[in-house]
Amino acid sequence: MVLKAVILIGGPNTGTGFRPLTLDVPKPLFPIAGHPMIYHLIESCSQVEGLDEVLLIGSYQSDEQELKNFVSSVRKEFHLNVRYYQEFAQLGTAGGIYHFRDQILSNEPEAFFVLNSDICGEFPLTEMLQFHREKRQGADYHHKEVYTMLATEATRQQSHNYGCIVNRKETGEVMHYVEKPETFVSTSINCGVYLFSQHIFQHLSSAFKDKQSRPNFESKLPPTYRDESISLEKDLLMELAGTDKLFVYHTDSFWSQIKSAAGTIYANRNYLKIYRHKRPERLRSNTDHGPQIIGDVWIHSSAEVHPTATIGPNVSISKGAVIGAGARIKESLILESAHVHDHACILHSIIGRDSTVGAYTRVEGTPNDPNPDKPFSKMEVKGLFNSNGQLNPSITIIGSRVQVPSEIVVLNTIVLPHKDISGSEMNKIIL
Ligand code: GTP
Repeated sequence: MVLKAVILIGGPNTGTGFRPLTLDVPKPLFPIAGHPMIYHLIESCSQVEGLDEVLLIGSYQSDEQELKNFVSSVRKEFHLNVRYYQEFAQLGTAGGIYHFRDQILSNEPEAFFVLNSDICGEFPLTEMLQFHREKRQGADYHHKEVYTMLATEATRQQSHNYGCIVNRKETGEVMHYVEKPETFVSTSINCGVYLFSQHIFQHLSSAFKDKQSRPNFESKLPPTYRDESISLEKDLLMELAGTDKLFVYHTDSFWSQIKSAAGTIYANRNYLKIYRHKRPERLRSNTDHGPQIIGDVWIHSSAEVHPTATIGPNVSISKGAVIGAGARIKESLILESAHVHDHACILHSIIGRDSTVGAYTRVEGTPNDPNPDKPFSKMEVKGLFNSNGQLNPSITIIGSRVQVPSEIVVLNTIVLPHKDISGSEMNKIIL
């Protein structure tokens, strides 16, 4: 039986909390643990037996060179039919699925996964599929319309930032679903991973028609120009809850959203940890003539790291980067062709493409990790500024092609691409 996956990659106007990292690379292609964010999702899909096609749906231009290069490289690496479909406008989380229904339904797949792209984790897709099949074929649910969604546990306080699920304990049937509720609903939250069968298009079609038939008081546009966007969470899941068709598969494995730039450092650490257990060959280990490696570190084979540098834990160094003598790097991402000069120290920071950090300079950010003392706690979704208009302390981001001079300190600062810094900076955005 054919299985497929759809990854919702958004477009230039989504994922704005991720700026300035997305100013020169589409968010889904931002590298984490050495690979673009969506590479990890495609790798998880490639491990599901029978899954041979992945459709990326978004509103990036289809001639976007990095996206084209990425698609052709993952096709080869995973032997999967990976294709990109561009929405004519931003169609919402379910609008693109509805619009490209013919492409999704070609070859009559038994079912298809849908994954948000701004998530990271260890996705139990095979287990989810098995659960889904049991629900569909079990005595009580023979040939029934069944949809499955992945859920995890959050803290009571943080749950209202997510889609909250109330389900029957014994069967997993979703009784109630609310997207980002104002009052407490449940600590069981939506992970943005679903398994649908073709029947879902009947529901999407009704959601679409319903939306089209509503008078559009705001825009007063004729029907043909009406908003064609459909929200998977609001127009579909909320409607399916309580209908005996939607089920939840719970996971306790690592899962997180990647909403902010700080989320990439956290995701990097966790993907490197997954490598340690599942793909240790991807991690760099200590050698007689190499740099000192502490904990989990990924270094591209073309990067030059001086043997006297100390790297780690939780660092990824991209293609063509150069790290000088005595440099110290910890909990950071060094992007393509960046140059960290001798004895510089980089902590909890991202150094952008083609940027340089001068000798003896210290670039440091403040981690924004989930509270380790609270079980199920997730990263806080914080804005850039607090209620007094001050910048919330977070990781330091040096945008692409920035020259950071020697012997200065840059702390909790965001530097936009192509900007110059003349001296030490703290708690600033340099525009
Ligand atoms: P926010 O907290 O408001 O960001 O909500 P959310 O976590 O539910 O995320 P959101 O609904 O914005 O996006 C979920 C996923 O869908 C992300 O991977 C987005 O890139 C993707 N997405 C969002 N809008 C669109 C869209 O119009 N088209 C496509 N193809 N993908 C989208």
